Amino acid sequence: MNIQLQQDIQIKNDDSRRFRSEVWEGLSEDPKKLSSKYFYDKTGDHLFQKIMAMPEYYLTKCELDIFQNKTDEIVKAISNINESFDLIELGAGDAMKSSFLLKKLVEKGADFTYMPIDISGNILSVLQENMNQKIPELKIFPLEGEYFDMLDKATYISKRKKIVLFLGGNIGNMDIEEARHFCGEVKRKLNPGDLFLLGFDLKKNPHTILAAYNDSAGLTASFNLNLLTRINRELHADFEVEQFQHYQTYDPVSGACRSFLVSLCDQKVEIENRSFYFKENELIDMEISQKFSEQDIKKLAKDSGFHILNEIKDSKNWFVDSIWMI
Ligand code: AVI
Repeated sequence: MNIQLQQDIQIKNDDSRRFRSEVWEGLSEDPKKLSSKYFYDKTGDHLFQKIMAMPEYYLTKCELDIFQNKTDEIVKAISNINESFDLIELGAGDAMKSSFLLKKLVEKGADFTYMPIDISGNILSVLQENMNQKIPELKIFPLEGEYFDMLDKATYISKRKKIVLFLGGNIGNMDIEEARHFCGEVKRKLNPGDLFLLGFDLKKNPHTILAAYNDSAGLTASFNLNLLTRINRELHADFEVEQFQHYQTYDPVSGACRSFLVSLCDQKVEIENRSFYFKENELIDMEISQKFSEQDIKKLAKDSGFHILNEIKDSKNWFVDSIWMI
């Protein structure tokens, strides 16, 4: 067996052990908890694509509006044409939004390398192929792996100014404490003068927010329930998925939009030889999608050691890309 293949198998085994122990741990808590980072298997990826295309789910459209129509503003805020830099994107996916910025930077003759980081090697190959076609002059250095491992690698390789992108409102999938820790870790890996650009979903009419997650087609429900199917398949569990129901809440005061699964009866689930008991109406806490006020963003930036350099909003003022500096 070649070394690369052995390493791949080792990584897969580690990932699967981590998945099992986090599921066991989460379902032993009170209230029970599963992490939404595990939503994204093949079916989950497909469901998320469908969610982004739903009329109620405004987040992607708003941030696309910023990257498509306010590209010059972003370029002006992040780059000085005489200074070379590296642009690192955390969770780049297919780089649909950032491609507008990359194209503009290349057109302006900026000297930079694009370093997309993603856990999925598959999506990175798609990204690289797309970019070769759309922006052949772009220098690209994909990094496959966990955010912080790859950020370490990127900062080891790059000796230039760094601009880190974290788009899509992904910061909202962490609770405030986790978000503070995450931003603090990013800061520790950067140098004075480096930039961090984050996408935040803003607090707005609570009906608009709730509708984006409580969609009439039931796609968000399937997105949540799919994690039980994934646990059944990958951890040899026996969840009866139809005995769980999706429940969504939004608290306009705290800005926490949360999804839960409700057990519809008393039931027992086996997950790799461990039993978990669910009472009727007992909840599994599945995901937080935190919404922010401008004050919340200011506080997060300050608490994690950054100051806000610039903020660029979409035409409805529903979403903001906030540019931070150390
Ligand atoms: C990826 N993330 C920003 C999405 C969100 O809006 O929290 C995930 C999602 N969950 C349900 N719908 C979309």
